[in-house]
Amino acid sequence: MGERKIDHMLQIKTGGLREWRKETDKYNRYEATPYQALESLIQHYKLKPTDHVVDFGSGRGRVSFFLHNHFNVPITGVEMNDLTFEESQINKATYRQKNKHLTAPIKFEFGLAEQYEIKPEDNVFYFFNPFSVKIFKQVIHNILRSVDEHKRPVDIIFYYPLPEFKKFLKKETPFKLINKIQGYKPHKKYGKFLIFRLK
Ligand SMILES: C[S@@+](CC[C@H](N)C(=O)[O-])C[C@H]1O[C@@H](n2cnc3c(N)ncnc32)[C@H](O)[C@@H]1O
Repeated sequence: MGERKIDHMLQIKTGGLREWRKETDKYNRYEATPYQALESLIQHYKLKPTDHVVDFGSGRGRVSFFLHNHFNVPITGVEMNDLTFEESQINKATYRQKNKHLTAPIKFEFGLAEQYEIKPEDNVFYFFNPFSVKIFKQVIHNILRSVDEHKRPVDIIFYYPLPEFKKFLKKETPFKLINKIQGYKPHKKYGKFLIFRLK
């Protein structure tokens, strides 16, 4: 199914890009994970009712709505661009109108991913190339600290795995790569998900 059709089915608008007005190499632009990739992800990676997903740099909310719609699990999106965040709120209103039967909470927080306070129930963390590796390291550090305080297994779903991010996770953290899921050919070697797990 095409991108627009799935947006329409979910009653959301998540297509297109949003560049930053001022150039920055810390924060990346808005661009949604392709639905084709997400379809492939859910064939090979299943969420359980006890999971709680956090989408760091949630943009207009595509990943959050898509996973919520398929698995009816609690999702939190964190987004720092005010216009993009506003759009996720509008999407939430129209999505909820259509999907009243899905009872799990879905929410978006406006703010910086690196300042998001990881909750003890958060256990699946999604990233699609939202920011620099320096910020990524801070966020992973926050996750590890939370796991230290509240022991639990956690997963990282990592779309568009650029080498320095991958290297950091493999070499400098206790996360283990457990799966690779091919997602979207036009993104070539980066059009895949890596699933890292901390048991
Ligand atoms: C490539 S988009 C991914 C959107 C969504 N996760 C998806 O896959 O469809 C990255 C998003 O991260 C946001 N972002 C960048 N740096 C951020 C930060 N430090 N904290 C929160 N959001 C951030 C951008 O504004 C953008 O909307």
